[in-house]
Order: sequence, then structure tokens, then C-alpha cells
Amino acid sequence: MYLVFKKSMSVSFGTPRQHYPVCASTNTLAGDWARQGAPEGAVVSADYQSAGKGRLGRIWEAPMAENLLFSVVLRPPLLQEHYGQVVMAAAVAVSEALAEAIQSEQVQIKWPNDILVAGQKVCGMLLETVSGTDALLLGIGVNVNQQLFPDELRHKATSLARFTKTTLDREVLMAKVLAKLEANLNHLYQCGIAAIRHTYLHHLAGLGEHICLQLPNDETNQGFLAGVNEQGHLMVMEKGGIRTYVAGEVSLAGFYAHLDKDHD
Ligand code: BTN
Repeated sequence: MYLVFKKSMSVSFGTPRQHYPVCASTNTLAGDWARQGAPEGAVVSADYQSAGKGRLGRIWEAPMAENLLFSVVLRPPLLQEHYGQVVMAAAVAVSEALAEAIQSEQVQIKWPNDILVAGQKVCGMLLETVSGTDALLLGIGVNVNQQLFPDELRHKATSLARFTKTTLDREVLMAKVLAKLEANLNHLYQCGIAAIRHTYLHHLAGLGEHICLQLPNDETNQGFLAGVNEQGHLMVMEKGGIRTYVAGEVSLAGFYAHLDKDHD
């Protein structure tokens, strides 16, 4: 670690902050810090992760010092059954920050909290609880300046720099994301989920369309994406009616087909 910023107790998100050139996972370090009492808004960031964690047990890889990799300690005054609302508030905050940064309306949310630009993933988020505490960790990975992607991600992922054809300042972007996140979470804590859910649904990719849903147990289900409820659970219209899901991976029908055509 080479930087520790400290300020007094009630300060904005991003303070205090620990930055590591290399670490295993910022979520893991933020978890240790949360157990030692890190306040809401404390951030652990890194230039490179050797064991970055993705959703559903996947790994998250990013080249050295090209992207944003950071975790925010949260202490939401919410019951655990409402933690899906934090996911929604975070997705809206990050999508707004990225849309502003690249001045584009082509930014969408893919349930639960992937952020897409022109249909390709630029950001993933991982929300974890910290056992024995009231803390949550929100890990955020944004593809900022990455130019090269592995073949298997060629049509699925991109970076902000590939979209804008410019290099972006990672620190400026992180400050934007943290400011939006703080504002949205304060709104959630004070006013509830209604307005945030409304914005979330407005930006939701695939609403009303046919989707495939891969469940954590590897089963797949299909149906029409009917929305997301107040707890952040996915609502899918299936043969037997509307079913809600807490976790899974959505594939949007025909989504990558047009990209294949564009790129080949
Ligand atoms: C996903 O889309 O699967 C979620 C990816 C979350 C990646 C971020 S990078 C910073 C933080 N530290 C981790 O180990 N994971 C999250």
C-alpha cells in the first residue's frame, strides 16, 4: 500500500482510502478493513488484482493500471432483505456517472448491476456481506482504458476508451462514481427505493424482451423480462406466470448476434 488518506469521521465517499499497486482482491482487503471499523464510504483501490472476484464465483481480470478496480465499504441502515436496493442504487449511480463521463445515452444496466455501453459490458459490481459486522462491500470494476480483450469477450465487453476513442483519467472517473454513489445511497436511506427503481427500470436492458436466465445452480429458464421488483429481484414472465429471481445471469435474446455482424 502506498497511499492512505485520512480525514475526520463524517466525510464523503472515497475518504479514507487505501491504494495498492497490486493486491489479491480489493474486496478482500476492504472486508478486513471493515472488520477493523472502516466507516461507510471508505475505499480500497488497486492498479492490479491477482485474484479479482466476479459474481457467481467467477474471476475478474484486468490489465495493470488501465481500469478502475475498487471496493467501497457500506454500512446501510437497512435489513438484509433490502440489500437488493443497494444493488439498484449502485447500478443507477454508476450508469449515470459513466454516461456523464462519456457523454452518451447508450449506457444501460443489465440486471442486476452490469453496466453496458452500446450493448457491451464496461462495468461489473460485486456486493458482499462481511460476516460478524453490519458492513457490505461494493466492489466495482470499470473497463476504462483497456484496449485488448480476450477472444471470448470480444463481442461482450468493451472499455470506455474504446467507445470514446480517447484516454480517460481514472481518478476523475472514480471521483464521479463515488459522488453519485454517495448521493444515491443517501437518497435511498432517506426516501426509499421508488425513484431509484424508476430510473433503474428506465435504463434496464432488455425490458419486455425475451431473455434466457442462467441460475446459480446452472439451470436455465426463459421468458420475457417483466421488470425488477422493489427488492431488486428480477421478474420474468414465464408460461406459468411471473416468477422472481434473486440471482442469475441474464442473456438478452439476439443481443450479441448483431454485434457479431458489426464486428466480422
Ligand atoms: C462481475 O461482473 O462479475 C463483478 C465484477 C466485480 C469486480 C470488482 S474489481 C474490484 C472488486 N474487487 C474484486 O475482487 N472484485 C470487485
